Amino acid sequence: MARRPLVAGNWKMNGLMASFYELEKLIAGARNLANVDLMVCPPATLVAGFAAAARTSRVAIGAQDCHALAAGAYTGDISAEMLKDAGAQAVIVGHSERRQYHCETDAAVREKARAARRAGLLAIVCVGETRAERDAGHARAVVRTQLDGSLPEGDADFVVAYEPVWAIGSGLTPTTSDIADMHGFIRRILCGRSAAAGEATRILYGGSVKPANAKDLLAVENVDGALVGGASLNADEFLPIAGIYS
Ligand code: PGA
Repeated sequence: MARRPLVAGNWKMNGLMASFYELEKLIAGARNLANVDLMVCPPATLVAGFAAAARTSRVAIGAQDCHALAAGAYTGDISAEMLKDAGAQAVIVGHSERRQYHCETDAAVREKARAARRAGLLAIVCVGETRAERDAGHARAVVRTQLDGSLPEGDADFVVAYEPVWAIGSGLTPTTSDIADMHGFIRRILCGRSAAAGEATRILYGGSVKPANAKDLLAVENVDGALVGGASLNADEFLPIAGIYS
């Protein structure tokens, strides 16, 4: 089945007001990219400004995390409703850096994915094994546990991002056959929940996606786009990745 690809950029803790320049370059370049959904997830400080600047463009704006609740006494946190109000269309939940540095459990990630749905945001739910888990032969089991614990119940209004932790920011990537194997495994799990929704759900690959390797990575079966970190900070690197679909 034809799934419309999504290429999303995760800026992590990078980006200042001066970064509007990159967004403008992206908006201009996106005019020629009719076959792919393009998204940028800047830090929370830039979500509202980016969303306003990109409102009539082909670039969607997402956020990188949200709280599970809509409002309350949670100093420093930001709810999905607030992100929606700021103009975001999506939110990444369960990124491995959140799981690692903020001790987010699968159950917490699921709560955030539910919050995204409640607020009308697309949740991009991240899963992926560590190097030690892969070396021990546990990659599939880890990913299955994360999916079982992190995905919200119900249908295809979320995206899954498979991001092996050891490939993030390292310049390393799995082989295309390892990616095909894991994405096929994830597809079967999604289809086991609901055949139609499982076929429709986009599964992104993330981890050291660059212009030089994007063509090979994005051609893999059941890879419906990419979640890009470092290379998304620069429009001249990000656009050629999305341009693979043109
Ligand atoms: P990277 O990050 O592209 O810099 O490896 C990917 C991610 O963490 O989403």
